[in-house]
Order: sequence, then C-alpha cells, then structure tokens
Amino acid sequence: MKQYKVLTHQDLESVRSTRELFGLEVLLGLSKTEKSLPSRFFYDDEGSRLFQQITNLDDYYLTGAEHRILDVNKGKLAEMMGGESFNLIDLGSGDGRKTNQLLEEFIRRNLNFTYTPIDISEAAVQLQMKDLEDRFSALNVEGIVAEYFDGLLWHSHQSKERNFVLFLGSNIGNFHRGQARAFLRSVWNFLKPDDCILIGFDLKKNIERMVRAYNDTEGVTRAFNLNLLTRINRELEGNFVLSNWRHYANYDVFSGAMESYLVSKVEQEVYIREVNQRFNFLPFEPIHTEYSYKFLVSDIEQLAADTGFVIEHQLFDDDRDFVDSIWRVVKEVD
Ligand code: AVI
Repeated sequence: MKQYKVLTHQDLESVRSTRELFGLEVLLGLSKTEKSLPSRFFYDDEGSRLFQQITNLDDYYLTGAEHRILDVNKGKLAEMMGGESFNLIDLGSGDGRKTNQLLEEFIRRNLNFTYTPIDISEAAVQLQMKDLEDRFSALNVEGIVAEYFDGLLWHSHQSKERNFVLFLGSNIGNFHRGQARAFLRSVWNFLKPDDCILIGFDLKKNIERMVRAYNDTEGVTRAFNLNLLTRINRELEGNFVLSNWRHYANYDVFSGAMESYLVSKVEQEVYIREVNQRFNFLPFEPIHTEYSYKFLVSDIEQLAADTGFVIEHQLFDDDRDFVDSIWRVVKEVD
C-alpha cells in the first residue's frame, strides 16, 4: 500500500519558523488585488513600544477612558467575584498596566484568585512577570505564552475554578464583525456556565474625534503603521523605502470602523527576498493594515445574545466614549 503521512501540529511547528509564517502572510496579503497586511504583525518590540506611546496620547482617548472606568468600578468588580476562589484570565495582557488597578484592589480585599495572563509575546509576559514579582510578591500568577485559544484550552484542563476573563483595550475592535462573533463563541466554548468575561468596546462617537485618535498630532500612529514596513525589511529582507509611503486612516461609515492604510506615493517596485517576490505599486495604491471597529450599545447587545452570553453590567466612562461590558456565560447543563 502507498504510504501517507498525517501531519500533526508538531510536524508543522518544527518546519515552519515564525519568519516563514510571517513571510507567507505578507506574500498572501500583497498578492491580492486589494493589498493588505494583517495588523497582528504590528507588534514586534518597536511596534509594542510605539503602541504603549499611543496609549499615553491625549488624542488616543480609548486608554484613558478605560482606565477611569476600571478605577471607578474596581470595587464593584471585586464584589462580583468575592466569596469563592477564581481565575482572572487576561487575554492579550501586554504590559498589564490596566490590570494592575484590578489586581491591587482584589489583593487589598483579600480575594482568593490566580492571575493568568495569556499573551503571544514572550517578551511581554516575561516583563509583566518581573513587574508583578516586584509589585505583588504574594500574588498567585500563572503566565502563559500562547495564542488565545491554545492558552484557554490548556488552562481549561488545569483548573475547574470559576473564570473571569479580561479582554481589555478594544482589542475586539481589531476583528472583523464576523471574526469577533467567531472569537467570542470560541471563548464561550472554553468557559463554564456562570464564568464571566469583561470586554472593552470603543463606542461610535463624533467622527472627527475618532479620526484624530488614529492621526495623532505627534505622528506616533504614523510611525506605528510604517514600522510594519521596517519589520518586513528587517525580518524578510524587503526593500521598502519608507519615504515612499504615507500613513492614512479614515472612518468608514459603512463598516463602522477606523481603517488604516499605507499609501504608495509613487509608482514603485518592492522586492522581498524571503519570499523571492517582486510587488508593484501604483501611485496612490493602498495597503490596508488595520480595522478598528467602533460599536453602538445595540451592536454589543446583539453580539452577546448571538454568542451565548447575557450582559450583567455596562460600565461607561462619564463621556460615554467607551464601555467595559461584563457578560456571563449561559449554557444548558445536563
Ligand atoms: C490594539 N488596538 C485596540 C488599537 C486600536 O485602537 O485599534 C491599535 C491601534 N492602532 C492604531 N492606534 C492604535
């Protein structure tokens, strides 16, 4: 009989380096008629540093608004979780600055919990571990370096305690509407009845304010977007000339998202050695780099209902720019 091979996850992991996967995604994205690059590649070390800088900008109102929401409501959240022991799972924890407010409050109130940050960046998790060690030496922490679902799957086999998942910072906005539903339904699948998730949503508002948040006066968002090309040049041996590109971000009224692009200023050819491919760009031709979806409260209600959750609390900031929405898992148990 002819031989065949069943490829496992490990087989693929061992042959594909992160660089190859990055190359493959870049090749796919730039080969489309409407060129695009996935926004998750923004976050190399420099991209993560620039994103931290963005979160401190006045123009980028999102972070400040969510910070204030958590500050005002941290007692309420502690009361919600009080009593039994639980896991506080932080999806895409980054440097964990926002979560620290909650950790401080939960520790002050002597809550019995384990903090589980899950992030794809080992550097980010390492840094956060060091910071937590210095700040809260008695805290139980189990950091996981993984994609969200791998981390949740692993974790669901380790602990049977109640889960409280954090998905802060409007990260949900970087998914397409359909992807967001699929993501939340998959999270639901890993959770038990009565587990909760807190999701940060940026709300639809004055269009000029949203546009300013992605076109800040200091040019940090511009640098953040262009850094994607620097990353391709460095990791995939590309020859993008940065001065031939401009950052462009606008609000698309149909999709309800801030959309970011890199727009070619001239007719040009770019060669990327890792994928051995030349790409041609016309003047004014865009590469789509990011969706940042904005929501109405009714969108959020629909999303919760469609994915198996009930909304427990809607925590708004005073200006109603942002909402941290707390959802509880509903499941038929047999
Ligand atoms: C991480 N994410 C929620 C940010 C956003 O607002 O979409 C990333 C970002 N892009 C430009 N500025 C910030």
